Amino acid sequence: MTQDELKRLVAQAAIEYVVPGTIIGVGTGSTANLFIDELAKIKGKIDGTVASSVASAERLKGHGIPVYDLNAVDGISVYVDGADEANEHLQLIKGGGGALTREKIVAAASKKFVCIADESKLVGVLGAFPLPVEVIPMARSLVAREIVKLGGEPELRQDFTTDNGNIILDVHNLEIMEAVKLEQTLNNLTGVVTNGLFAMRPADVLLLGTKDGVKTME
Ligand code: A5P
Repeated sequence: MTQDELKRLVAQAAIEYVVPGTIIGVGTGSTANLFIDELAKIKGKIDGTVASSVASAERLKGHGIPVYDLNAVDGISVYVDGADEANEHLQLIKGGGGALTREKIVAAASKKFVCIADESKLVGVLGAFPLPVEVIPMARSLVAREIVKLGGEPELRQDFTTDNGNIILDVHNLEIMEAVKLEQTLNNLTGVVTNGLFAMRPADVLLLGTKDGVKTME
């Protein structure tokens, strides 16, 4: 099976977790896009969605699926999104698409977080994928210097602005042994909006697409 076929497999499997008559949180990226396409097939059964990016909101609306502002809904039953890396504790690196802050907000507002990914995303130690950090533009150099002190190699994501008008520093050279601690340390740097580690609030379920089918980790 190709990587795209594995992504479609988990996108289809995630439909099982959709709670009828509720608001669904929808993530960002190629795997989340496939989930949106699957969700469109049952759109009459849900009350609507909250999207973690402008791009996902547009795709949802294109399918005729209602998209609400998070402030306009009571809560989200389940959030379905992809990841750039996942470990066996269901801690994740996200933000390859730059939507990490809104993804973290939607995850925090959701009762359950179902992560969908092909098997290439499962790693022993997080950090081979550069960790995205969203930063207020005027704090770019300040934050970059602090990250260097922590042992990381920050690289400005070129020609990219987040949906919130900020920049992304992609941090290389991290071998993340204490994910919760690093997530907190980075978030405590003045000028950081948030970072792409989902360790304090890991996924509740990881649906992993493998050659042998969907593996459910929880
Ligand atoms: C978006 O900002 C990311 O967090 C995505 O969820 C992540 O990059 C996974 O994307 P793919 O499904 O395209 O691999």
